[in-house]
Amino acid sequence: MALDEAALETLGLGTMWVRRGASVDQSATTVDEPQQRAPREAVPADAVPARAAGFEPVRATGVGPAERHGREPAVGDFDRAPSAMPDGAHPASTWEAGGVATLDWDALEARVSACERCRLCEKRTKTVFGVGDRAADWMLIGEAPGENEDKQGEPFVGQAGKLLDSMLRALSLARDENVYIANVVKCRPPGNRNPEPDEVARCEPYLQRQVALLKPKLIIALGRVAAQNLLKTDASISSLRGRVHRYEEVPVIVTYHPAYLLRSLPDKAKAWVDLCLAHDTYRQAIAEEQARQ
Ligand code: URA
Repeated sequence: MALDEAALETLGLGTMWVRRGASVDQSATTVDEPQQRAPREAVPADAVPARAAGFEPVRATGVGPAERHGREPAVGDFDRAPSAMPDGAHPASTWEAGGVATLDWDALEARVSACERCRLCEKRTKTVFGVGDRAADWMLIGEAPGENEDKQGEPFVGQAGKLLDSMLRALSLARDENVYIANVVKCRPPGNRNPEPDEVARCEPYLQRQVALLKPKLIIALGRVAAQNLLKTDASISSLRGRVHRYEEVPVIVTYHPAYLLRSLPDKAKAWVDLCLAHDTYRQAIAEEQARQ
């Protein structure tokens, strides 16, 4: 896997990742932020792109208030709208999840596009099923569609999507080639609020089926809301990062949401560390699979 230096530049990491031996502007660092290092010991020399090119991470320039308080601001935190139906029940939600586990890709997509299982169907423009290679090893899971995604019916098409594409490119991955991207919920929560637990629960059979059909070797959870809902935990994103979790038996790596990273340059460097861990974990999954054959 080749390093895409241009993609690292686009990620804004050109100033944070320097060639070994090159001088670093220490004024760009803070004293209280612990040094962040890619987990390279466990990785073959050619496995992690940044390492392969002789790059080393430079510690982040600071910690934002949200991270200090152990949480990543979600997109919805900035525009929270009250739930349309706080009791959680949508009048049309008599439909049961039964049968979803047997659907193929096209039938599943059709089922999602007609879904009325929760109140989110009332205000959506388009359902956002997922995009990418239906045979990909890598699956990325975000929180919920935003305004642009709701209009276009595709996940991560706004500015956050552009950053996500750069992150993928830095790993020599691309959404229409070797990655599949989906969200925890398939319809836009009004005002980009966080999805409610009952909305996540009603949508979960679709995601479970997507995972079963795709059989990814690795999942990346993008942001706190996606991670907490996938992993069924209230733990902070900082405590979930840096470890391998499981969803439906698939290894899961947690990283920051690209919309958050757009506002936090220091955490882009941490996200790169997460991607390196994802890459290691992927390599390990492949090696274990080969050993079993
Ligand atoms: N944020 C998400 O979590 N998913 C999208 O598809 C777009 C923005």
